[in-house]
Amino acid sequence: MARALHIGVLGAMPEEIGSDLSHLQLLESEQHGDLTIHHGTWAEGIRLSLAWSGWGKVSAARAATRLLSSAPDIDLLLFTGVAGAADPALTQWDVVLADAVVQHDMDSRPLFPRFTLPALNRAQLNPDTSWLRWASTALAQAAQEGELDGFGLPSTGLIATGDRFIGDADVLDALREALPGLKAVEMEGAAVAQVAEQEGMPWLVLRVISDGADASAAQSFGDFIQMYDHRAWCLLQALLSRVELAPKR
Ligand code: ADE
Repeated sequence: MARALHIGVLGAMPEEIGSDLSHLQLLESEQHGDLTIHHGTWAEGIRLSLAWSGWGKVSAARAATRLLSSAPDIDLLLFTGVAGAADPALTQWDVVLADAVVQHDMDSRPLFPRFTLPALNRAQLNPDTSWLRWASTALAQAAQEGELDGFGLPSTGLIATGDRFIGDADVLDALREALPGLKAVEMEGAAVAQVAEQEGMPWLVLRVISDGADASAAQSFGDFIQMYDHRAWCLLQALLSRVELAPKR
């Protein structure tokens, strides 16, 4: 029989974890400087270790590292929260699961090609295919079964991370041109993916579109995040309630 699933969940802001904590039992927390890590149980056989990291790549990488060392039996590291749309077909509430992530502000040219992470000698990082298949199947089923009402249809694609809130159509156009197929932009996912890759840990990045990464992005983001607070748990629950489909540990 497979051992209990243990997922490490990170979000940048409290609103991106939403009410998740209130759904957990046997809650314990530990403090590392200004970072609080919560450990709890959702249902028999599912344990979560959860924290909000703060914005940006450094905070995200630091939280990921702490989270992984706080619970050595974590099976999967999941970063979740909101993102700006880079694909014009996406609108608010659409769900994007990364099948690839890139750090759009990594540039060590001429020593390495643009976007290449010297530590891994790769530009784009891809989640483990069996975990990705699990999450995309779980989300598609949840959508079909009406559990994700109000959310758009989930899709997969490339998500770009950088230490910049994108609120300018020209900046976004330049990123789209440099990164064909780009779906969404955010500020943490690829940093967490890098830590996970270097630690040999499966990872996923799951985002919900909050804004169009254009001139109205800051306003849309601010309005959206208030509403998202109440809904963040739905997405996580869609995954957790389908652990029977998860890769064997
Ligand atoms: N997260 C949500 N919206 C974003 C944007 N427009 N740029 C970067 N990160 C974001």
